[in-house]
Amino acid sequence: MAKETLSITDNRTGKQYEIPIEEGGVIRAAALRDIKTSAEDFGLMSYDPAFTNTASCRSRITFIDGDKGILRYRGYPIEELAEKSNYIEVAYLIVKGELPDRKHYAAWESNITTHTMIHENVKKFMEGFRYDAHPMGMLVSTIGALSTFYPEAAQINDLESRRLQTRRLIGKVPTLAAFAYRHTRGLPYVYPQNDLSYTGNFLSMLFRMAERDYKPNPILERALDVLFILHADHEQNCSANAMRSVGSSQVDPYSAVAAATAALYGPLHGGANEAVIRMLVEIGSPKNVPDFIKGVKEGKRRLMGFGHRVYKNYDPRAKIVKKIAYEVFDVTGRNPLIDISLELERIALEDDYFVSRKLYPNVDFYTGVTYQAMGFPMEMFPVLFAIPRTSGWMAQWAEMVRDPEQKIARPRQVYIGEQTRHWTPIEHRPEPTMREDAVSDQI
Ligand code: ACO
Repeated sequence: MAKETLSITDNRTGKQYEIPIEEGGVIRAAALRDIKTSAEDFGLMSYDPAFTNTASCRSRITFIDGDKGILRYRGYPIEELAEKSNYIEVAYLIVKGELPDRKHYAAWESNITTHTMIHENVKKFMEGFRYDAHPMGMLVSTIGALSTFYPEAAQINDLESRRLQTRRLIGKVPTLAAFAYRHTRGLPYVYPQNDLSYTGNFLSMLFRMAERDYKPNPILERALDVLFILHADHEQNCSANAMRSVGSSQVDPYSAVAAATAALYGPLHGGANEAVIRMLVEIGSPKNVPDFIKGVKEGKRRLMGFGHRVYKNYDPRAKIVKKIAYEVFDVTGRNPLIDISLELERIALEDDYFVSRKLYPNVDFYTGVTYQAMGFPMEMFPVLFAIPRTSGWMAQWAEMVRDPEQKIARPRQVYIGEQTRHWTPIEHRPEPTMREDAVSDQI
């Protein structure tokens, strides 16, 4: 049988090394440290900006095969969960590792529901934001502020504390999200209502006006629930990596979730669907699509909602969202921007630029038009992403905390700056003080 090892010859010294291959295709980067030219040599290290080929953890939560377009949570295909499950059950699955039985489902749902209320001072804290504050900025700060309300959350090695903070966060994030939205609208906050579903309650906190009994539209409630399922986790993406990296300092989970939420705010991550809508509005009509695509191919623009670091095939979530979009349009009326999206997709999938680079629609390509049809302003899109992703972040965090191999995350660098120099008084410094290219590197 072939050996599960990698043989390396260091041509600088002629020495040979044998490195174990683990898990069917992984080598430990630390094994490279033994490859040295002398005893004083630091040893080899790998250089991997943006971690394109570096695993930072071993995980049991989410599996993605980007080439085949497969996504599974704890082994369950995303298509099955989206069709048969609901977000609350999926959150349980992601956090606990198994689907709940009836008793555990009821306890979990009740625990989440009873944690939807927020401290009145959190509400006052949110009132302090400017009238036009971006709801995602409000969410980032308010989640961080929760750590001051629950100082016991610092006990990250305490299982019961971890469980409590997980229930609190999954319960409270929709309330914070809805309050952020109402703040930007100048509307009074609507308190949580326990007899509604997780998603139904969220819709109530967002959209309830003066009705005696607010009844969310069941199709929109289900559509949002499925969108929540699709966004619950996505293995080591930018925000999960932020969650793990910040959490590895052993800070409390509220601070780490605030960092993960901040990562999600960026246009290359959770902000992409907002960018998609801005792009569609700018294109204006399906007839302008060819010109736009030409600009993308010339490198002037990016086709937002296309491409993915991991998926080199159709994002399986995008297929489901496209279907949901039409279900939502049956209730709300068709969002005319969908025609531009369809034309962009049609042309891009036939064009060699996109085909050769394996650029396909990602989850964000159709979520924006769907959310917009449901009445959400664009600023709420990343917030809608953060709500379900909270369960994924908490699962990633708990896995990291329990993993004996994990330590404080601290990458290496390849230093390319100046060697030792000595300070000179300002009047003796030559002009210019720095090379031009070095100056342009500065903030
Ligand atoms: N439009 C046009 N060209 C693109 C796009 C795009 N959306 N995405 C990638 N490319 C091109 C790049 O220019 C590059 O071409 P080159 O080889 O000629 O230089 C090639 O495809 C590879 O692209 P990279 O940027 O190296 O791919 P990377 O894995 O770093 O980026 C990312 C992935 C950030 C998602 C990128 O595809 C992108 O910017 N897409 C648009 C933003 C977006 O939709 N983000 C949402 C991601 S999903 C999520 O976070 C939930």
